[in-house]
Amino acid sequence: MAEEKTVSQQSSLNIFIYITAFVAALAGLLFGYDTGVISGAILFIQDQFKLTAGMEEGVVSAVLLGALIGAAASGALADRFGRKRTIIVTALLFAIGAVGAALAQTVVSIIGFRILIGIAIGVASYTAPLYISEISPPQARGALVSLNQLMITCGIVVSYLVDYVLAASESWRWMFALGAVPAIILLLGMLALYESPRWLVSQDRIEDARDALTHITGSENVDKQIQKIQKSLMVKQGSWREVFEPWVRPALFAGVGIMFFQQITGINTIIYYAPTIFEFAGIASHKISILATLGVGVVNVVMTLVAIWLIDRIGRKPLLYIGLTGMALSLGFLGFAFSLQNLSSSLQLIAVLSVMAYIASFAISLGPIAWLIIAEIYPLKIRGRAMSLATAANWGFNLLVAATFLTIVQKLGKPGAFWLYAVLTVLAAIFCWLFIPETKGHTLESIEEHLKSGKPLKKLGV
Ligand code: BGC
Repeated sequence: MAEEKTVSQQSSLNIFIYITAFVAALAGLLFGYDTGVISGAILFIQDQFKLTAGMEEGVVSAVLLGALIGAAASGALADRFGRKRTIIVTALLFAIGAVGAALAQTVVSIIGFRILIGIAIGVASYTAPLYISEISPPQARGALVSLNQLMITCGIVVSYLVDYVLAASESWRWMFALGAVPAIILLLGMLALYESPRWLVSQDRIEDARDALTHITGSENVDKQIQKIQKSLMVKQGSWREVFEPWVRPALFAGVGIMFFQQITGINTIIYYAPTIFEFAGIASHKISILATLGVGVVNVVMTLVAIWLIDRIGRKPLLYIGLTGMALSLGFLGFAFSLQNLSSSLQLIAVLSVMAYIASFAISLGPIAWLIIAEIYPLKIRGRAMSLATAANWGFNLLVAATFLTIVQKLGKPGAFWLYAVLTVLAAIFCWLFIPETKGHTLESIEEHLKSGKPLKKLGV
């Protein structure tokens, strides 16, 4: 992109960009925290309210239902009210939801406040990365997409840590309440930051955009940058009809498909239910199963770092194949461990190690790569719409899995449930082989040209 070249000529990055990106990425941390915290809290909510499997799934899934609604509305909100104001309102929702869920006296009100938090997550999961990508120069943009995933995994590990520390006192209310802390930091931080210059230009607020750009990039080339933004904005936003035009369909299919497989292969049965799974395996103490879960969170963060390091070196598809193979095998082992009655301590260990291997394999593959692919393969004109569609699909499939996991376990048994996810993982590998392009080293423009040429998307890398 012409705009990108100009900006990339600036060699040193203003520290302000890093501060801005970090503050906005707190939204990713909240995404991770508020989705992860339920894994520990649910054990104590279950003890206190004696939930049925259906009610338990309701409590776990409430956030996801909210996120689905939030993600669907996010594109329109961020365009209408601006990125900054949208993130500020979501920070407020995060804080209100955290305190409300912490004080809730009934299961229904827990569910209500968790839906509110979910709406914030859904809006933030689209708007925060968008804002970060709009304020960051191109040489940092790629890494920042994966940085968001890293912040999600950090949020999950922090939530597990909080769950672990508070497990002894069974304080599920504090587990929820602590989510208000990063929310308030996000709120105050965003108040101090500038609006996205790109959005300001799109609103014809050129003076404000100039002011924001000067502060964010510290650059003297501000007028030139504004012209570039204006030029790129001349590529008018495509309509929803254009999102479904035949030449875009392969990308649409690939993006929604990879989100489908990211969720349907069971990641969040582990993220949300890990302690429950460890208790299935016969680990009786809540505290020990939450400790093992903390290990899961740490492995997730570390392997996401490994993925960020490898993603531009060995490419997306090799990582996908390695990761999916690891996931399928570990799910197979997990099913096997559960197929034997009354797990001995060595089988309990196999179950715990299988969960760790599964999470490691996910973290180097479908975790970051699904989000990366949807940021790479759509033509500029419809990128916003198509990305919010794929994001909403991610939350919809997430909801589907979380809302059905315990029921599937009841119907198919534990081995059957994990073997089902293993089979779906094999299908995911076939899907990636057939439909996902190797985008490593390609500019976004060349991907768009390839799509236009009508050649199969998969042929991009060859
Ligand atoms: C997924 C989340 C998941 C997280 C785990 C993300 O890429 O979208 O559903 O909880 O990874 O690290």
